[in-house]
Amino acid sequence: MNDKAPGTPRHVAIIMDGNGRWARERGLPRIKGHEEGANSVRAVVRASKELGISYLTLYAFSVENWVRPKAEIEGLMDLLVRYLRGNEKELHEQKIRLRAMGRLEDLREDVRNELARVSDATAAYESGTLVFALSYGGRTEIANAAKRIARQAAAGTLDPESVDEKTVAANLYLPDVPDPDLLIRTSGEMRVSNFMLWQISYAELYVSPVMWPDFREENLKQAVAEYKRRRRRFGDIA
Ligand code: IPE
Ligand code: IPE
Ligand code: MG
Repeated sequence: MNDKAPGTPRHVAIIMDGNGRWARERGLPRIKGHEEGANSVRAVVRASKELGISYLTLYAFSVENWVRPKAEIEGLMDLLVRYLRGNEKELHEQKIRLRAMGRLEDLREDVRNELARVSDATAAYESGTLVFALSYGGRTEIANAAKRIARQAAAGTLDPESVDEKTVAANLYLPDVPDPDLLIRTSGEMRVSNFMLWQISYAELYVSPVMWPDFREENLKQAVAEYKRRRRRFGDIA
């Protein structure tokens, strides 16, 4: 018997990749791929709730993505505002709490305002959490935690000798969110692209060849089914 087989993952994190290639394959502008990708977000959020996944984190924009053409960045920000306005009702219906993590101060003001508004409006929901990683970088997050810890040590409120893994984890963006159990990347790329470097230390990895705009409920179900067949040993013997 597979006595170490895990149940439903509590936290699924997704690197949503392949929007541009999806569009190019169809002779469409990249933004059309992002637009269809927003429909995948809607579908996957709904499916996660149905599957009983408590936390879903979506990598929507990295700190590195700021090097992209201005028009694409603006298009993505417009889309984000549209997504938040258009899906607030559904988040309420499904009792899903919205949160965001990253260098949120870098985001356009209207994006920040919508994020704050919808996050506040849904803050009381406890059964499901949707986290958007925006202007997010794993190294930035860890460096930021180091800065906060150093400040506390300099102020004399923290003994440097007491710093351990718990101290670092407690100074990340969303310290109360458990580590991802399952990390999915779409479009077949075999890399983590600076995503949740600290938190994915023991996550199960699943790379799907499907481009994000085509990744829907069935694909998520397949990933979760595969996860359930894995054995998570955490360093122990089989
Ligand atoms: C993912 O799709 C969305 C973001 C990174 C914002 P891409 O835009 O990276 O699409 P590809 O990888 O170029 O196909
Ligand atoms: C990772 O995708 C970031 C997001 C999904 C937001 P990228 O398309 O930016 O990653 P690389 O550049 O291919 O590693
Ligand atoms: Mg990409």
